[in-house]
Amino acid sequence: MKKNKYVVGNLKMNMMLEDVSLFLKEISGHVQNNRVILCPSTIYIPYFLKQDFAVGIQNVFSKNQGAYTGEVSAKQASRMGVHYALVGHSERRLYFREDSQMINQKIKACLDTGVVPMLCIGESREERDLLRMDRVIKRQILDALHDIDDLDHIMIIYEPTWAIGTDVSPSNREIEKIIVFIKQLLKKYKGTDSIPVLYGGSVNEENIREIMNIDEIDGVMIGSATKNPKKFLSMIEVAVNE
Ligand code: 13P
Repeated sequence: MKKNKYVVGNLKMNMMLEDVSLFLKEISGHVQNNRVILCPSTIYIPYFLKQDFAVGIQNVFSKNQGAYTGEVSAKQASRMGVHYALVGHSERRLYFREDSQMINQKIKACLDTGVVPMLCIGESREERDLLRMDRVIKRQILDALHDIDDLDHIMIIYEPTWAIGTDVSPSNREIEKIIVFIKQLLKKYKGTDSIPVLYGGSVNEENIREIMNIDEIDGVMIGSATKNPKKFLSMIEVAVNE
């Protein structure tokens, strides 16, 4: 894949079992790259393992084990063969009121158990309109990484909430500017330049080529366009071959 960039597919709470079977049948053997990370609903994870792509979990709890009905820990995920976890996705911040402290604990739980946290950050439309973007992003990153020194196994995904599921995304120049900003911030405040920074939000067949060509970008996260296996494969093809 070009410059070893990542493609993360977030299937969200989509797909019934029959869709999963069809999806896997269609892509099986065609995605031979461990920088392609598929994140299905937790219940379907066993079906996605043992393929030539990596598997991520969409959410983990902040503790390793105990009386937390309905939760799944990073340790459990890790023991299943899951190498990545989304943390702080805007849908979780919004619908499940995940705050920065919780996100910070989840990242620590991942790092403690060898799961790479994929920290999602991004501003809302209102924050963007009020030109508070830089401040919001800085706060989200520094709060999430508070007290964390093991920065070699973390990824960041910049997903402005207004670009998620809307078919509207920032221009490539804007994406590049913010990716550079995030990397400078990580260098200044955390002393690292090795954290991959990806973009997510309405990535599709039409725009993936150009987005992947942005110099500073380390990959993309795709939401709804992942659901269709043919579209997903053609996007992977672009990402791999160009
Ligand atoms: P869409 O690609 O559907 O905009 O979703 C983005 C996203 O939230 C991926 O996690």
